[in-house]
Formats: sequence, C-alpha cells, structure tokens
Amino acid sequence: MLMKNYARVDLSFVKGKGSWLKDSCGKKYIDFASGIGVCSLGHAHKGLAKVISKQAKTLIHTSNIYRIEPQERLAHKMSRLLGGDYSLFFGNSGAEANECAIKLARKWGYKHGKSGIISLANSFHGRTISTLKLTGQDKFHPEHFAPYPEDISFCASIDEMMTKATANTAAIIIELVQGEGGINPLDKTAVKNLARFCQQNKILLITDEVQCGCYRTGEFVTSKLYDIHPDIITFAKGLAGGVPIGACACRHDIFEAGDHGSTFGGNFLSTAAALFVLDELESMRESGELEQNIRAFESGLESIASEFKDIIKRRVGLGLMQGLELKDESKLGEIFNAALANGLLILKSGKATLRFLPPLNISAKEMKKGFKRLKKAIASV
Ligand SMILES: Cc1ncc(COP(=O)(O)O)c(C=O)c1O
Repeated sequence: MLMKNYARVDLSFVKGKGSWLKDSCGKKYIDFASGIGVCSLGHAHKGLAKVISKQAKTLIHTSNIYRIEPQERLAHKMSRLLGGDYSLFFGNSGAEANECAIKLARKWGYKHGKSGIISLANSFHGRTISTLKLTGQDKFHPEHFAPYPEDISFCASIDEMMTKATANTAAIIIELVQGEGGINPLDKTAVKNLARFCQQNKILLITDEVQCGCYRTGEFVTSKLYDIHPDIITFAKGLAGGVPIGACACRHDIFEAGDHGSTFGGNFLSTAAALFVLDELESMRESGELEQNIRAFESGLESIASEFKDIIKRRVGLGLMQGLELKDESKLGEIFNAALANGLLILKSGKATLRFLPPLNISAKEMKKGFKRLKKAIASV
C-alpha cells in the first residue's frame, strides 16, 4: 500500500513516444507537461534510451569516494555552458540541489559572520524541511512539520528584499520564473538591480533554476536571459530527461571534503544521460530549432488567449515555460479535467493559471494537435 501523500488522478500510462502518451485503456494523450518539466526530450527518445542502455551495460554506480568520469565531464560541460567559473555538486532532485545551496550559503555566511537567507513570496523550492521553509507560501509551512530552520525570511517583492536585507543576510534566493506559484517571470530590471545590490553588499545571489533551467526558457540558464551571474544556481527536472538528477553550481570555493555528499548523486547512469540531453538541447539551441518551437508555442497560446477572452486573462511565461492565467479561478480544475477528457495533459500553477511545460523537442504536428484539444477543452467549460 502507498502513503496517501499525493492526490492522484486515476490514470496510468503504459507507453510514450515523443510528445505522446498512451494510458492503460489504450487512450492517447498529447503531453504538454513532460512530467512536470522533466522529459525535456519527450518520451522513449531513441538516442537517450541507447545511452542509458549502454551505460547500464557498462557501469551504473560506484561510490563517490572514487572518481566518476561522466560526472567530471558533466561538471566541465555545465561549467562551460555557464561561462566557465562554476564548480558543481550532483544530487538526485531539486530539493537536494537547494539543500546544497543552503549549506553553501550557511558556510559562506558563517565565515562572514552572517546566517540569514531571504526568499520571495509565491516561490517554491522543495519538500525537505529546509526547502519547505525556503518556500514563500504559508500553506507549505504547516505546524505539524515544525520546528523549521531559523533565519529564513520572506519578502513580497524584489524591492522589499533589498530594503529588508540586513548585515546578517548571507544569501537571497529567487526563481527567475516562478513555476508553482503561478507562472511569474520576474521583472528584468528589478533582477539586475538585485544582482548589483547583492554584489555591493556581499550577499550571495542564488537562482533556483530547477524548473526554468536546462534550456526550458531558451538558454541553458534563465540567468543568461536576465544577464546576471548568480553566485549559486540549482538545477534538476529536465537535466537528464527523466533520470533522477539534481545539480548545484557555485562560483566560490566553499566546501571542503566532508562538508556534503550523496550516495547516488552524480552516478554513471544519471550523468551519462544528462550529458546526452545537454548535447541534444545545445544543438537544438544552436540550430534555432528551440527558438522556433518557442515562437510556435507562444503564438499558439496567444491565439487561444485572444479567442477565449471571456475566460483567459492573459498569456504568461518565458520560452517553453508558459501559462494561461484565467479570469475565474474556479475554472482551473474544470479546464484541467476537460483537457484530460480530450486527450491532453496540462498542469495547474498557483490559483488560476493553466501551466504548459511541453517537451522541448515537441514537433509542429504534436503542437497543433495539442492546441486543437486545448481549444475544445476550454470551449467545453
Ligand atoms: C523551482 C523548484 N525548485 C525546487 C523544486 C523541487 O524539486 P524536486 O521535486 O526535484 O525536489 C521544484 C519542484 O517542482 C521547483 O519547481
């Protein structure tokens, strides 16, 4: 028997191909969700399956007490994609990537006589006790999980982060595009001001790119679109196309041997998969295919937003991390269910936003089919 921690939809999938999924009754769905932004190359990608299978036949795991060649290559590749001056730690999830960021911030702060971390309202950073505390939504801080770590506070806006920071502030963490609290891309000027403020005041800037990183918004990291160089960047979700992985990149030399670790993190299987996924996405980015998919997806959503002006307030998002904000939040569940009934997988975000995180290599045909089903679903409520 399973624990009751998920409110699951009574549906299970048996097979996938590209942006298609088939359920146990044989019904086919277009996938505009990729898990929750995980299957960046869609389902059953031949090249990824081949790499995973080859690696599994060679070596899946050795302990992190030994050198792991694909882990070193992945660190090198991610560091190159980030501009060269980052070192990497690999875990297995977004929460673990953020735990690593918290430990780095605390240790760095300890050296500088400060320990505070400021996070933003509506953020989401994970489900471990510290990352729950870091999450700027009260519903994630129930009394039954208390006590939480100290010295983590919240601000309603980036401007407030700068006015409320004190001599005790070691780090500020933001998601450049908030994914769970509504699809909210932060304001570019405000973020640039914050980056400058952090640098001037010796505060570490952490960007949580667990959802918006790994080419989801068109560049390897969304920080690049915002023209900032955070001290720490965290990754997970789409990095290995569905094989569990998390990563934390840091520009400073903070950890010493023994400060942090993970049994599974960065093993042969997950890092070999991530290397393949990043190669594929990098070439999609360079060939212009990714940008083309982004434009096509955005314009599909724009035309739906203007066709259903009575239901949809506006399109929101960046790259292939998109949302349609509804005028009436009570319609969110209805449209989600109608989409399912029409053979389309979408997600919900915040109180009133339909969220779309399609595979980054979704084809024009799959997109067209998905939008047709989405229109039918919206028209039916
Ligand atoms: C921005 C962000 N950070 C952290 C997490 C936590 O990641 P995980 O569920 O892999 O621990 C998520 C998951 O949705 C996320 O969206």
